[in-house]
Amino acid sequence: MSASENLIYTTAPAADAWIELGALDELFDDGQCYGTVINGLKIGLFYVDDQVYCVDDICTHGNALLSEGDLEGHEIECPLHAGAFDVRDGKALCSPLIKDTRVHNVRVEDGVVFVQLNL
Ligand code: FES
Repeated sequence: MSASENLIYTTAPAADAWIELGALDELFDDGQCYGTVINGLKIGLFYVDDQVYCVDDICTHGNALLSEGDLEGHEIECPLHAGAFDVRDGKALCSPLIKDTRVHNVRVEDGVVFVQLNL
């Protein structure tokens, strides 16, 4: 499912707001990657070893959605030029990437996923 199919929150949330995204098992019902949009910001969520991680969905190298890439362990590979990021801390792991990506806070409560954006 692509980020553009999941447009939510068209108004700006409060800076420190926890935004409810939905049930964990529904967000990741067809894989470990999920993309969505909050007030124009595309974010990608990744489910690894019972943990959910969130980073900016747009690659820092070009116009590609990381949520449409390949996830192996904690590494998400960009679908365009195969640069990889660590979803835990947003670190760029290989060329052609020269810039880390931004990480957002995630919490899961009673099976529901919430995200707090680092704007
Ligand atoms: S657009 Fe992601 S590595 Fe080039």
